[in-house]
Amino acid sequence: MDPLKTDVYNLERVAHEFGTPLFAFAGDAIRERVAEFRGAFGMEWPRFELMPSLKACPILGVRVLLSELQCGCDVFGPGEFEGALRCNVPPSRISLNGSIKDEQILRKAILLGVRIVIDSPREASLINEIATSLSSTAFVMLRLKPDLGELSATSDFAPDLLISELSQRIKYGIPNSELTEIVDAWSSYSQLKLVGFHSHMGRHSKRLEVWSAWAAAVASQVVEIESLLADVDHPVINIGGGFASDLDADLDVVDRSGNTPSLPEFASVICAALRDKLSSSVIHWSDWTLEIEPGRGLHSDAGIHLTTVKNLKCETVGEHRRWAEVDTSEVFLDLHGVPDECPLQFTSVSSASSSRHYRYDVVGLTCNAEMLSLDAELPELAVGDVLAIYPTGAYLEPMAANFNALPRPGSVLLDQGAVRLIKRHETVDDVFARDIIE
Ligand SMILES: Cc1ncc(COP(=O)(O)O)c(C=O)c1O
Repeated sequence: MDPLKTDVYNLERVAHEFGTPLFAFAGDAIRERVAEFRGAFGMEWPRFELMPSLKACPILGVRVLLSELQCGCDVFGPGEFEGALRCNVPPSRISLNGSIKDEQILRKAILLGVRIVIDSPREASLINEIATSLSSTAFVMLRLKPDLGELSATSDFAPDLLISELSQRIKYGIPNSELTEIVDAWSSYSQLKLVGFHSHMGRHSKRLEVWSAWAAAVASQVVEIESLLADVDHPVINIGGGFASDLDADLDVVDRSGNTPSLPEFASVICAALRDKLSSSVIHWSDWTLEIEPGRGLHSDAGIHLTTVKNLKCETVGEHRRWAEVDTSEVFLDLHGVPDECPLQFTSVSSASSSRHYRYDVVGLTCNAEMLSLDAELPELAVGDVLAIYPTGAYLEPMAANFNALPRPGSVLLDQGAVRLIKRHETVDDVFARDIIE
């Protein structure tokens, strides 16, 4: 598999033309993945909507492509909300998530007709008050925290902890006792129009039985409170994101054992569980709209990071070692400390690659130890060679930091045979732009 189409795009030339360090996003791979999600879930569910989560890749040039592909959008907070609007996502296809939403963002969402995912009773009252003051109706969903009961599976983020406990402990979603308050008070929220239900488990597991249990728990809770729904034709069940990518190299995941199920496998078990529990709903299952909000599962394997070798060092006294010092950093790649097993692959994309191979410690450029990859097997390197680090398409660019006052990398989009800059490199002036000195 070569989602980056290295036969079409010359990554060494891209690095020289646009400068490194550089994030490169593969539009072609994103197009394919969107079609795969739609194919897999569309086979199982007649009304299916893909709502990619902007947080995984909040780069407007990438989001514009998703808008062209008619995807809705899950956003968190005022920045992502504005980003989605700038990328022409129709307001009715934006889902506004988050556990703290201030009055300003709520007002804007109500005025534009954006769907607001309610996270607490206080928020329900606040949205109702604001909508009343605007003489408007707020389209809302309730974010649920279904009880996973006896499910004994542990989380891949924290293999000592049970998913059933973590999914209750996480701050998101309406605590079940508070959901009762909302249900009891619902008739007093005259300006709220409930259009559906939301729940996000997260990337706790790749095991299909966990997804099946999750989907069943969501649908069971939905059926209990569906009487609150406004008179809408196709109410929504949104089950969030959390689908592992094929390569499953996300750095926040601790247990990556086992294969990632294919999208048809995910879709089949999730939809079967939803259909089963929705058989008790007064609404036929096929009249429900199913939404998902993939982040990593859509973007992760569609990105690569390019960096240039700036210096080489070797030790020949005692244990022999080679270091390749490169112009990127752990603070751009979310790598920390001494990696025991770095899930990112490091390869040389230089045309002049030697046939001799050595082991290098690839080290980055801040004053930290910057052990990006230890003992990486690479062709004999020269200063100026370009290395590709893969996969880096989800969460890394938005998590990049300015340690050592380093400007953060720019981004390019490789799409349909063309390469274009979609985010310029940060400058040192940008880094200090908010500082105030007398
Ligand atoms: C509400 C919601 N939807 C979707 C996502 C995307 O999750 P992932 O990248 O694991 O698919 C997140 C991630 O935190 C989320 O909070």
